[in-house]
Amino acid sequence: MKDLEKILEELQSKIVNVSSMNELNDLRVEYLGKKGSISMLSSKIAELPVEEKKTFGAELNKVKMTANELIDSKKNEIETKELNEKLANEKIDISLPSTKVTVGAPNILEKVIEDLEELLMSMGYDVVEGPEVEKDLYNFELLNLPKGHPARDAQDTFYITDETILLRSQTSPVQIRTMLANEEKTPIRIICPGKTYRRDDDDATHSHQFTQMEGLLVDKNISLANLKGTFDIIAKRLFGEDRETRFRPSFYPFTEPSVELDISCFNCGGKGCNICKGTGWITVGGAGMVHYNVLKNCGYDPEVWTGFAFGFGIERLTMLKYGITDCRTFYTNDLRCANIYDRKDVE
Ligand code: DAH
Repeated sequence: MKDLEKILEELQSKIVNVSSMNELNDLRVEYLGKKGSISMLSSKIAELPVEEKKTFGAELNKVKMTANELIDSKKNEIETKELNEKLANEKIDISLPSTKVTVGAPNILEKVIEDLEELLMSMGYDVVEGPEVEKDLYNFELLNLPKGHPARDAQDTFYITDETILLRSQTSPVQIRTMLANEEKTPIRIICPGKTYRRDDDDATHSHQFTQMEGLLVDKNISLANLKGTFDIIAKRLFGEDRETRFRPSFYPFTEPSVELDISCFNCGGKGCNICKGTGWITVGGAGMVHYNVLKNCGYDPEVWTGFAFGFGIERLTMLKYGITDCRTFYTNDLRCANIYDRKDVE
């Protein structure tokens, strides 16, 4: 009986200092576990004389119950304490201003592409795609850029195989693909926006991966005047109704004649400023009449068919339109490049 009282007193004094569930569990095992001190006393019953067995057994049960009660009430106490602590820590101050949730949106390059697609589709153009891993044959050879042609130097790119498969350095190979695929040799009107690659070192105006949009129109009796009219519409759509356009003579192997596409400066209106480098004009793309050899390479009789082609650098157009000075911001998750300009639901 003495043992029982002592055990209980001991438990009572220890439990006062318990402050966590783990400690409490250890204590439960120490006293009430299979080999715990209270359980061990049960085995003593067998050694006692018959008359004592009953009273000892009853006492032992009482002690067990009390021990269980002590532990249960401590358990409640700890749980309540832990809950209160958690509530205090996670308390939300509903008077604080809310955090602004930024809504995802397409990259601004995508917006410019969609703008151009919408315009050109309304003019009867189809939007087509071509592979980024391209044959040298389509990226250069059939575009009138044979091996060793000096104009290849400006378009050095990444090669997948030694000589024949590369990452396209321009979207112009899609011209070739479209003409070759059109077996009936009917008129063509396509644009192709997409990624292009060059072995350029990245800086504010160069990137080893960038975006172009190609245009190709093939039909009968097409002249530079048709190209001029088309470019004029594109320029006004992108840079405002007041824009004037001009052609400047240039050279591309796949067009003849070739031109640079200039718009009157949207910043100074043509007077001369730092954006147009004092000239009043800004170059936004290249174009020309589809070269005789290119038509022939693709099975279009150059004596019958005529056409024009154009190419825009989408980063350049976007930088000009939105006053962005470093093209790397397009690719580095700068949220200001998300298409938030037209969104009324986002501040
Ligand atoms: N592919 C040319 C480039 O990357 C741009 C270009 C110029 C495309 C004239 C054309 C074109 O279709 O007619 O520099």
